[in-house]
Parts: sequence; structure tokens; C-alpha cells
Amino acid sequence: MIGRLNHVAIVVPDLAVGSAIYRDMLGAKVSESVNMPEHGVITVFVELPNTKIELLHPLGDDSPIAKFLSRNPNGGMHHVCYEVADIVAARDKLIAAGARVLGDANPKIGAHNKPVLFLHPKDFCGTLIELEQV
Ligand code: CO
Repeated sequence: MIGRLNHVAIVVPDLAVGSAIYRDMLGAKVSESVNMPEHGVITVFVELPNTKIELLHPLGDDSPIAKFLSRNPNGGMHHVCYEVADIVAARDKLIAAGARVLGDANPKIGAHNKPVLFLHPKDFCGTLIELEQV
């Protein structure tokens, strides 16, 4: 059901430092930071030959990643995003298999203007999973 790894998201305490690590130390192509107020994050996109890394930093008071950063002050891996062809069919199959979908289980438009869902980490080896329809 799942296809390509679309991205790995890493929460960072300082986007400039995180960008410099990926650009200068690791030699990757790194975007300018992009404010995404509707998602409560500021994002830097790191392009790798086979996938992307997204550096995330909280934006606003009720950012969904604020608590993660307070628990992980050095930052840390937040989620992995797998591509699916049909997100509603994937969701229904996963719910039927006993998996929990976060929120109201309806796909929302994600950071790449495509429908996304998040799956409960307790059902997936302790990893928060984002599904993105491509
Ligand atoms: Co993501």
C-alpha cells in the first residue's frame, strides 16, 4: 500500500543552525525557511537525491510541535511521510486493521498542498506516520 518515502521531518530548536548543518556540514540543497501559519510551523526543505528532509520549528503559541520541542530540547525526529495513491482507501484499510488515525480521520491539506493524514505512533512501532496522497 505505501509507496515512496516522501520525507522525514525533524524538529529543530534553531532553524538557522539546522539549515547550516544540512547545507554546510552535510552538503545538501537547503531552501529558505517558509512560514506555514495554518500548520503552526516554520519549515526548511532539504532536498536529497531520493527523498526530502523537513526541518520544523514551532510557529505561534499553539503549534502542534511545541510540546515535542519542550520534551526534546535538542530537537529530534518527529515523523516519517509515506506516499499513497489513494489516501481514503488507505485510511479505511488501516482503520479496518485496527490502526488509529489522529484527529477526525479526515485528510487535510498538508505542507505540499496534498491531502495528508497522521497515524498514531503506538500502532506503528513508536513512529508518527504521515500519509500523503501523491
Ligand atoms: Co510531514
